[in-house]
Amino acid sequence: MGKFHLIDHPLIQHKVTILRDKNTGTKDFREAVNEIARLMAYEVSRDMPLQDVEIETPLIKTIQKQLAGKKVAIIPILRAGLGMVDGILDLIPAAKVGHVGMYRDHETLEAVEYFIKLPSDIKDRQLLVVDPMLATGVSAITAIDALKKRGASSIKFVCIVAAPEGVEALKEAHPDVDIYTAALDEKLDENSYILPGLGDAGDRLFGTL
Ligand code: URA
Repeated sequence: MGKFHLIDHPLIQHKVTILRDKNTGTKDFREAVNEIARLMAYEVSRDMPLQDVEIETPLIKTIQKQLAGKKVAIIPILRAGLGMVDGILDLIPAAKVGHVGMYRDHETLEAVEYFIKLPSDIKDRQLLVVDPMLATGVSAITAIDALKKRGASSIKFVCIVAAPEGVEALKEAHPDVDIYTAALDEKLDENSYILPGLGDAGDRLFGTL
């Protein structure tokens, strides 16, 4: 069963406030998203398995620990997920990066996959699906459907701001997926924006307001 993790370290809460402030410009917004993603990666990787390895220090032979688990792939959901990639790569530099593009069909209101490009070995990797906003959950659920259809079996979802509605929907659709968020907000508004939220994450990251 997937777990829900609220990563509310004071440094992260401070930076999320910067994101929420409408007076924060594109450059500072982008930097804060990256910094939050970097700090979150520290917690997201907390359960990475270790194995014993024998090494020699300048003094003696000794058994120590090294990472043993699956290799990681970061999968940003386009386009706002791109803002979190570099921060996570700072901590897990050997990770590969796949991309999933989703758009919302305004008639059916369903998320439609328009682009997908993944490392060939996703079934052997720990996937970190990233999107700053978990609103209705439709994009996350559809992206994870697409990854599972291609063999992915080990998936964590990492966002910065989540709405309770999105958390519930994602848990129900993909109960095996751990969810990590830096903030759990109040609710969605009638246009599926998160309240209090931070507005449109993609527009604020890329300056397309
Ligand atoms: N996507 C965003 O960028 N912001 C929201 O509030 C909801 C979805």
